[in-house]
Amino acid sequence: PAPQPFQVPLPVPPVLKPVRSDATTDYYEITESVGSARIVPGRATTIWGYNGTFPGPTVVTRRGRAAAVLHRNRLPVPVVVHLHGGVIPPGDDGYPTHLVLPEGGASATGAHAGHAGHGRSAVSGNIAQGSRTYRYPMDQNAATLWYHDHRMDFTGPQVYRGLAGFHLHHDAVELALPLPSGERDVPLMICDRAFTEDGSFHYPSRDPTLLEEAGVTDRYKDGVLGDTILVNGAPWPVLEVDAVRYRFRILNASNARRYRLALDPPPRSGTAFTQIGSDAGLLDRPVSHDRIDIAQAERFDVVVDFAGYPVGKEVTLRNEFGSGGTGQVMRFRVVRAARDDSAVPDRLAEVEPLDRSAASVTRTLDFDQRPAGWAINGRTFDPNRVDVSSSLGSVEIWRLNTDAHHPIHLHMGHFRVLSRNGRAPGRYDKGWKDTVDVPTGTETEIIVRVGGYRGRYVFHCHNLEHEDMAMMGNLQVI
Ligand code: C2O
Ligand code: CU
Repeated sequence: PAPQPFQVPLPVPPVLKPVRSDATTDYYEITESVGSARIVPGRATTIWGYNGTFPGPTVVTRRGRAAAVLHRNRLPVPVVVHLHGGVIPPGDDGYPTHLVLPEGGASATGAHAGHAGHGRSAVSGNIAQGSRTYRYPMDQNAATLWYHDHRMDFTGPQVYRGLAGFHLHHDAVELALPLPSGERDVPLMICDRAFTEDGSFHYPSRDPTLLEEAGVTDRYKDGVLGDTILVNGAPWPVLEVDAVRYRFRILNASNARRYRLALDPPPRSGTAFTQIGSDAGLLDRPVSHDRIDIAQAERFDVVVDFAGYPVGKEVTLRNEFGSGGTGQVMRFRVVRAARDDSAVPDRLAEVEPLDRSAASVTRTLDFDQRPAGWAINGRTFDPNRVDVSSSLGSVEIWRLNTDAHHPIHLHMGHFRVLSRNGRAPGRYDKGWKDTVDVPTGTETEIIVRVGGYRGRYVFHCHNLEHEDMAMMGNLQVI
């Protein structure tokens, strides 16, 4: 049995309620646990999920209130939680070796963070037994963030099994805009998966227990791709929509797949997508796109106006980089006319310009394959080595060079794209970003604001198999 396209409704993950609140902070609790999902007809798929679900519950915050999230680990392996795009003190950022061991006493092997092949056996402190509370100041602009596992050497398989969820952050500027909201503000987590005959996720780990040996079998060094496209955990789902504007927060949560998203058919008038936000916040002005190229971990916050279609129309969200099953993502069914009080204003938010002249340091970082594996400036990750040290509050230009196609992500330090191969940034490069896709054999310049907090953070390739093969470096904010 294989899932068939356009048979199941789009699930929308539930919003997590705080367990309590005080004057400054909302407190949440999430349990990493084994769950079961219906994805393949007649089969149960075992997942590792936040609260046993995939995607996990959506955390919703608002600037001005901090969030504290208690994670209890009831999985058989260590976990690490990273809030992707968050501006977070280093002890709460989900540094890859800051493990949360399984509840109720970990096996001895549970404490291993690295595997011998990469010579990374040393684990720096900050290991928690059973649970950890992550404290998030949330003193940042409204943005579509997401949280996911970040365990050293095992991020790929642990995200693949389901450890990913949305964290939607609001602020007063965004809430004052007349954008589509409520049921017309829908997060879309897109990822690809493969399944075995019995309905389990098929991930080619060397060690399926994920306790001893990290990594994938040799054929998968470029990354793990699946043949089934899931949106919010469901295969090629359908969303019934009114003929009005919807806001979609599109996240590519795939380990290794990129998408070129397009609507088929395109609307009768206007463009398919009006982009209002990028990874780390709202754009200053909306940008129209007929298609959207999205790499791993990137987010595009867009508005689609279904008034451009007759009632009754079926509109397919296609992936023009794929073919057959991977060439389609989901479907919208325009079911009725309805009143629409939303609008996309011409001015969205103040996005301060960040000019080349603001930068005090320029660095070159080469992302390429070495005999030791996927490397940055010739070296694979070592938690005990500082690769870049930057001053808090400074602005830096990073020249990112690649030998293969790498989506590059910085923890701590949102950035803007300055140039692509010496030319102006591309159509998808607008706004504040935390992840930038750098095509094979090219140079992309970004300008980084080193904001937030002092301490050690990572930057890495967000092809999760490249990341697990140690294409990661340490950024020490001083
Ligand atoms: Cu989305 Cu370092 O991660
Ligand atoms: Cu890569």
